[in-house]
Amino acid sequence: MNFDPEICRNEAEVESKLIVQYLLPQLGYTARDWHQQVTIARFRLDFLMSPSLVVDAIAPLKIVIEAKHPKENLDRHRRKLRRYIESIEAGYGVLTNARELRIYRYREGELHPIFSCAGEQIADHLDRIRGIIGKERLMGRSSPPQTAIDPPTTERQRSNSMKVIAVYHNKGGVGKTTTVINLAAALRKKQKRVLVIDLDSQANTTFATGLVKFDDERFDDIKDNNILQVLSSEEFYPLSEVARTSQFCDPEIDVVPAHIDLMKNEVDLNQIDFSRMILIQKLDEIQDRYDVVLIDTPPALNLYARIAIIATDYLIIPSDLKPFANQGLLNVKEFIKTIDAFRKQIQKPPVKIIGVLASKISPNSKFVQYTLPKRLAAIPKRYDLEMMDTVIYERDDLAKCSEKTTTVGDMEIASPQSVMDYSPDSMAAEEFENLANEVLRKIEV
Ligand SMILES: Nc1ncnc2c1ncn2[C@@H]1O[C@H](COP(=O)(O)OP(=O)(O)OP(=O)(O)O)[C@@H](O)[C@H]1O
Ligand SMILES: [Mg+2]
Repeated sequence: MNFDPEICRNEAEVESKLIVQYLLPQLGYTARDWHQQVTIARFRLDFLMSPSLVVDAIAPLKIVIEAKHPKENLDRHRRKLRRYIESIEAGYGVLTNARELRIYRYREGELHPIFSCAGEQIADHLDRIRGIIGKERLMGRSSPPQTAIDPPTTERQRSNSMKVIAVYHNKGGVGKTTTVINLAAALRKKQKRVLVIDLDSQANTTFATGLVKFDDERFDDIKDNNILQVLSSEEFYPLSEVARTSQFCDPEIDVVPAHIDLMKNEVDLNQIDFSRMILIQKLDEIQDRYDVVLIDTPPALNLYARIAIIATDYLIIPSDLKPFANQGLLNVKEFIKTIDAFRKQIQKPPVKIIGVLASKISPNSKFVQYTLPKRLAAIPKRYDLEMMDTVIYERDDLAKCSEKTTTVGDMEIASPQSVMDYSPDSMAAEEFENLANEVLRKIEV
């Protein structure tokens, strides 16, 4: 059901037509779950959603919604919303004038913007909004979250249909990020629901999917809402809240961004016992929302690579098949072996290796005819790893589509695209379509 912001002509209509008649039912709330025009702690709130009116009930379950006249500028009401939320210790605040809807998360004395969209886009973003403040998500959490150490949970996760694929090689520059983003786009075009997780502090996937919209670090809106927070908090920061919509391909996909801060926090995160396994639990929470989750990893044998391989079902190892990348395969195998031993301890089956993906391969015809077959044959023979059928050749389009910019006024802004959107008839687009077909066949989605 669509929502038309034009039907709201004043504040009362924003309350009745948008919030009461549309938004709350769409989020799964009934009249018994919320209280309208309620006075608490000296404040009169438009809407308060809470399992009870006991002010000291568990904070994240409480949401304050403030409705404004369609002509009001929402920026002017943010501070007041913060005071309301602070005084009643709510977890979330929603501010809307029907032309725009904003969701904030209250944490450590600050109001963090975590979602916003235009009024006419509310219907398109309902899944995302439900993932943040829907009844099922917030009330469902009133029972304590299950821990990943619990074997039955782990097994339950394995039997569902969402498949997690990590793309990893400890050698840099072999095409991991290029594979993740374009495979994600190719799968999305086959109507699969796709989430990409960037676990590399270089944040190349975050850039390449167009999530970095600031060119001055003072406007960095990723710093407080990225994969680092997901991994640092057991109870808060579900993936559904941190994921952002990326328009780098059509249809859009969701991306959990990374940040340079991952690097300096690696040592601290390493001290937290749950950090190695928390991603398993966070993936478990979104298993009904996506068909495929793709994880981009750093070119390292570090904690973030470890976290990705502990949580994943499948692994793709991109390689340019050159000597250093080949020698690196021994490290990759050793790394997986130690992680499989750990997975055994937590009752998880070994990682399934889909194969080594030949990537950035020279399309020179002599090379393809004489040298490539030998290099492809060497991998199973020397390293006992299977090669994937698809080959991703070196193509200019693949580098160009990530660097695309558009000019707005006198400013040049990054507007990267997937190769399928940038150049749908290209050889590169065809190769990624083949890769998507091969992956779907091998993971049985
Ligand atoms: N098939 C290809 N054809 C042409 N250029 C490519 C191809 N694959 C990757 N590149 C380019 O090579 C560079 C490295 O690729 P990419 O970032 O995907 O590698 P990576 O393995 O993720 O690197 P890192 O280890 O640093 O994360 C990028 O500039 C990318 O645009
Ligand atoms: Mg990369």
